[in-house]
This record gives sequence, structure tokens and C-alpha cells, in this order.
Amino acid sequence: MFQMDYEKIKPLFFKLDPEYAHHLVTAMLQTGEAVPQLFNRWVEKNFVDDERLHQTIFGRNFLNPVGLAAGFDKDAQMIRSMTAMGFGYTEVGTVTPKPQPGNPAPRLWRHVKEESLQNAMGFNNRGSLYMERKLKKRFPYVTPIGVNIGKNKATAERDALKDYEHGIRVFRNLCDYLVINISSPNTPGLRDLQNEKFIEALFGMAKALTDKPILLKIAPDMENEQAVALCSKAVESGADGIIATNTSIDYSLVAQPKEVGGISGKAIREKSFELFDAVASELFGKTVLISVGGIDSGYEAYRRIRAGASLVQVFTGLVYKGPELAGTINRTLLKLLEKEGFSHISEAIGADRR
Ligand SMILES: Cc1cc2nc3c(=O)[nH]c(=O)nc-3n(C[C@H](O)[C@H](O)[C@H](O)COP(=O)(O)O)c2cc1C
Repeated sequence: MFQMDYEKIKPLFFKLDPEYAHHLVTAMLQTGEAVPQLFNRWVEKNFVDDERLHQTIFGRNFLNPVGLAAGFDKDAQMIRSMTAMGFGYTEVGTVTPKPQPGNPAPRLWRHVKEESLQNAMGFNNRGSLYMERKLKKRFPYVTPIGVNIGKNKATAERDALKDYEHGIRVFRNLCDYLVINISSPNTPGLRDLQNEKFIEALFGMAKALTDKPILLKIAPDMENEQAVALCSKAVESGADGIIATNTSIDYSLVAQPKEVGGISGKAIREKSFELFDAVASELFGKTVLISVGGIDSGYEAYRRIRAGASLVQVFTGLVYKGPELAGTINRTLLKLLEKEGFSHISEAIGADRR
């Protein structure tokens, strides 16, 4: 797969149902992991390991700042492949306490003209026990792993805290950071938890359970002031970082939207950047900021870094730009650092804030 020209195979891929295409990619990656020669070739081709991109964050060495966003590897089935694809770190999940099937299909669509996706997956995953077993097999990890945790659909909102507590207990010693996901649009009522009272209770509970860094992932569909207030409350309550953003329910962003789910990719780029930038204007220097949403090039990643992101993540860009994206982003980042006279990424992080 990695030796092929992605632009050539993309039209064939795009003839397939998007969810089926994802299963196919998963199967191909798992096969690749099992063949050491192939695996090593992928690593050599895609993994950029340059001191100028190394950072110590959460006490862990991040060899490059480009991570895989949550939702691609929901059950931690391909974390080794992600290193081979050049990712400096991987966020698995969203995982819920119990397995659940998610929403009925079809639930994933492409908006090809806009280089975007729309998904209403609904946290389909095999549950925490399955992921725990998968992670234990790979522990300790080559590159940092984040575990993104959520609540089961069947769990009432008033019991949501218990689901997050479960996730923290199971994964606190099996990851480098945890993410609280209350920003998916596909679990009814979940985004209602994006309120200061819940955030305070959540981080109060979480910090009593573990010293592991715990981050909050937010939706882009908020007023800037609301997002800033929410994230500030999270940090005050003990959050170690913010991930902005999840998918958007602003259906005006694409020409032919479905009536359900969240939009990702190029269509949300500006919205996602704007919200990230607002949060960074208040929290840069006070917490770790991760930017995600519509990043598909080194230039866009660099814009987020200059705005205050220590790390970035991609998902939809992989579908449109192909499996070499992380490597391409990292190589471009190195060129941009050089061009701007920076000797290390840390000098570029937040350069636009100073
Ligand atoms: C098919 C699909 C499934 C996703 N599932 C999750 C998920 O389970 N948990 C989560 O926090 N984000 C999930 N996301 C959101 C991504 O992690 C990311 O925040 C969003 O897609 C914006 O980034 P992008 O424009 O690079 O795709 C999902 C996105 C897509 C496209």
C-alpha cells in the first residue's frame, strides 16, 4: 500500500463505501504490521526523526508533533502501524466502558469537493476490556499513546461521571495521556456536558484518581468566549491540556450535508482554527494545546504551531492526502523552521502570540 501512488488508488478507494474502505485500510495495516520487512520499510520512509522536532511533553519524548486524531483507531488495533505511517503519537478511542455498536449505517460520508467527511458513527467500539487487552500487548509503547474516553449511549447523563471514572481507572497506567471527550455530536446529550459545573466535577474526580495528564477535547460549535471560559475552567480544575477541535454540526460548511453527524476536514479548517486561536489567546503558556481540524499540510500545521499548538493531529487529511501525510507534514515543518530561522520547534510554538 505504501509503495503505491495514493493519487492513483484514491479514485478506486472512493468508489467503495467509506466505512468499508476504512475496514479495508485497517486490514491492510494489520497485515503490514505482521511482516517485519514491510513494516521497517514503512518506518524508514515515513518516520521523521530530527532533533529539531523532539519535545518532552507530559514527561514523554515526542519525536515529532504530528499525531493521529481519535476515531481512526477506535479499538487500539493498529498503533504500531501509526508509527510506521510517521506519526509521532497516537490517540486511540473513543472507548466506552461497555462495547457498543454505534449508530446504524450508513453513518460515514465523503464530501469530495470540499475534501471533507461527515460522520455519525456514535462511538462504535469494542469496549474498555478489549482495548485494555490490546494495549497491554503493546506496552511499553514506542511512541506516546493517548486514550480518548467517552460514555456509553445507554448511560444516563446524570451517571456520565461514572463512565469517565471507569475509563480513567482502566487506562491510567496504560497511556501517556487521557482525553475526556464530551464533544462528539453523535451521542445524544453528550455536548450538554460541556458546561462549567460538569467540568469542575469531572476534573475534581479525575485528578483524585491519577497523576496522568488529562486533557479536554472540545467542539468547534461554540462562541469563542464560551470556549475560552470552558477551557479556563477545565485548566483551573486540573486539566493538563486542551484539544481543539472535534467535528462540527455547522451544516452550512458543505454543499450537500447529511442531516446527522459531524463534519471534518477542509470544510472546518477555518472554524477550527478560529476557536483554537481564541483558546490559545487565553491559555497559551498555561497548558498544553493540541490543534486538530482540517490540517492536511505542513503549512497548516505550522500555522497552528505558531498560534500556540505544541502538537497537532490529523484524521480526514489522511483520507484525502494519503498515508504519507504525517511524513510530508514533518518534512515541511523542518523546511519552514529553517526558512524562519528557528533552530527548534519550541521557538515556533506560539510565535504569533508574542
Ligand atoms: C469517522 C470519524 C470518527 C471520529 N471519531 C472520533 C472519536 O471517536 N472520538 C473523538 O474524540 N473524535 C473523533 N473524531 C474527530 C476527530 O478526532 C477530529 O477531531 C476531527 O475529525 C477533526 O479533524 P480532521 O479535520 O483532521 O478530521 C472522528 C472523526 C471522524 C472523521
